[in-house]
Amino acid sequence: MTQWIKIFDTTLRDGEQSPGCSMNKEEKLEVAYQLERLNVDIIEAGFAISSKGDFESIELISERLKKPVICSLSRARKEDIELSARAIQKAKFGRIHIFLATSPLHMEYKLKKTPEQVLETAVESVKYAKSLMEDIEFSCEDAGRSDPGFLVKVLSEVIKAGATTVNIPDTVGYLMPAEYGDLIRYLSQNVPGIENVIMSVHCHNDLGLATANSLAGVLNGASQIECTVNGIGERAGNTALEEVVMALKVRPDIYGDRGTKINTKEISKTSRLVSNITGSVIQPNKAIVGANAFAHESGIHQDGILKQRRTYEIMDAEDVGLVEGKLVLGKHSGRHAFADKLQEIGFILTKEEIEKAFERFKALCDQKKEISDKDIESIVADEVYQAPEIYKLQYVQVIGGNTIRPTASIQLLKGDTLIEGAGLGAGPVDAIYCTIDKLIGEPITLVDFSIHSVTGGTDALGEVTVRIRDKAQIFIGRGSSLDVLVASAKAYIAAINRMLHFRAASSDRIKPTL
Ligand code: KIV
Ligand code: ZN
Repeated sequence: MTQWIKIFDTTLRDGEQSPGCSMNKEEKLEVAYQLERLNVDIIEAGFAISSKGDFESIELISERLKKPVICSLSRARKEDIELSARAIQKAKFGRIHIFLATSPLHMEYKLKKTPEQVLETAVESVKYAKSLMEDIEFSCEDAGRSDPGFLVKVLSEVIKAGATTVNIPDTVGYLMPAEYGDLIRYLSQNVPGIENVIMSVHCHNDLGLATANSLAGVLNGASQIECTVNGIGERAGNTALEEVVMALKVRPDIYGDRGTKINTKEISKTSRLVSNITGSVIQPNKAIVGANAFAHESGIHQDGILKQRRTYEIMDAEDVGLVEGKLVLGKHSGRHAFADKLQEIGFILTKEEIEKAFERFKALCDQKKEISDKDIESIVADEVYQAPEIYKLQYVQVIGGNTIRPTASIQLLKGDTLIEGAGLGAGPVDAIYCTIDKLIGEPITLVDFSIHSVTGGTDALGEVTVRIRDKAQIFIGRGSSLDVLVASAKAYIAAINRMLHFRAASSDRIKPTL
């Protein structure tokens, strides 16, 4: 009989904490719907007290989704717990997730509390949460660097107080797989009452070991894995959902009857959606979801694959939903066919959003022969998943070449006001970006610029992703077009719009301190 390992997805909370990956309410809902199709067990939808936007996103996701448990994060404080409970009030299945640090370093310098005070706070917070809701998770933040004896004390007391899941985070990605596995085994053997609750693993990837550590945890008694799509998250990220799920599936000889309920055929689509919405590009050699994960370059490998797939492939691309982009719709397809296709791919859009995407699709049909699912995903990301358009690109023209100084002429719309200008640059993209800086009246710090083609072929859509910095904050923008310079301009403006939107909304945002 399968021993189900619960998949707790925290893409919308820990994942969103990665630089530049913030999402708005509608974007979070779209990701949540896809996570539901992927069949995750729990969605951590946000940190209710951290901002009005986070609270509203959790509320919206709680109202709309009916299958997974919806969870909200809270510090071990009454006000956080109360707000989490309110945000998930309408969820069919709701969970409050409380965290409190237990390592000497965190207790002394960050919390400025003694271990006794931490223990008392942990118990009080769980008791309070339990008075509002049945399903309570408690996390010992920085458990990886905590004293195992102290963890035993805290965990046994929070279980007595009503916690139904206890989580053991390696918050700073410090432990080696054998150490983390030993810690999980020690806790599973020494915490009174642990057999009545779910023990969860939560690993960060600072040393590239998040997946290995999570799996070591599972082998030693954990039955919930906390992870994010594409492994996005603080610093080097969290455990990648797709990696742990496929490892459990591909290696039953190691993991025995442990399995997940994930519909693995939805993995690629989920990965692309998260990448498109957050603008975080997936490295080509990323396990499971990278562009090269199933590509065979060398002649020897290709020969082997043709003779017997298993010579160089340990899993089928189809198992993770990687099917060659089909020719989908053509020039003569109408709105209905297009809307049906969007639904089939998995997008749930408003009428206006469909209309916007349809206009763009029609324009693309005039220029490109074959349109695949990936093209449509890129169009939707470009037209729908953007911050409100404070600046809108009306027009961009660039003159360049090897005998001329690149010059850009640009028109932007700000509300009803048209602003236009021209400028020079070291290269065509520089000319565009310097001119946009001049038009909006502030120099922008460009941190990163990347470009890739959505599909193969010289007539492919070019997708540009930029990262800009405003003080300590990173903002990502992406844009796609058959013309890479137009895509470059769109991506830059999208990042600027995100930055301006963030500035305008920051009055409602608090940065929780402990
Ligand atoms: O990494 C961590 O410790 C966390 C907790 C809030 C669970 O994300
Ligand atoms: Zn974390």
